[in-house]
Amino acid sequence: MQAPQPRSAVQVIMREHQQLSTVIAGMQRFVELLGADAKTPGLMVFRAMLYYIREYPERVHHPKENQYLFARLWHRTRELDPVIADLEAQHAQGEARIRDIEHALTRYELAGKSALPDLRGMLDEYAAFYSNHRRLEEEIILPAARQWLTAEDWIELDDAFGANRDPFEGAKLDEDFERLFSLIVQTIPEAQA
Ligand SMILES: [Fe+2]
Ligand SMILES: [Fe+2]
Repeated sequence: MQAPQPRSAVQVIMREHQQLSTVIAGMQRFVELLGADAKTPGLMVFRAMLYYIREYPERVHHPKENQYLFARLWHRTRELDPVIADLEAQHAQGEARIRDIEHALTRYELAGKSALPDLRGMLDEYAAFYSNHRRLEEEIILPAARQWLTAEDWIELDDAFGANRDPFEGAKLDEDFERLFSLIVQTIPEAQA
């Protein structure tokens, strides 16, 4: 049997998880500052964070997990069916939660501080929801993938997650999101802590 090797798709997945956690912590920090009447960089930055989550984790990362990582695992073993079903349901739920947070932000813009506890509550719930999701993927799915997936599966996964991407092909989207992510992180430096 082949010895388990560190896989590049796994590194891409874990890096994207870390980036989403950083953006969520940034949003929590933002709301904390709003509550304390402290200086904030302007709600456009909060909107940029939501935009990032909607356009990258929601539209790129999660669909790739469903389509490649979970699908490949499903072919190799049925042991993970209940966890995969939960994670797929969470992918759909995550989108709805982000929509609710956007609405709560709009209510805050219109109504002011009285709408802040709602926004903060939703954000804290989303942070807990995501950290549970991430933990299931990193502690159950990725180790299972190392155990069950074949060399061929890994080639497909590395390709899908762009781990071996030709720098002249399809890299534009990744670059744009990298730039947006750096901008977000620079705007709220405390979020990195
Ligand atoms: Fe993920
Ligand atoms: Fe996921």
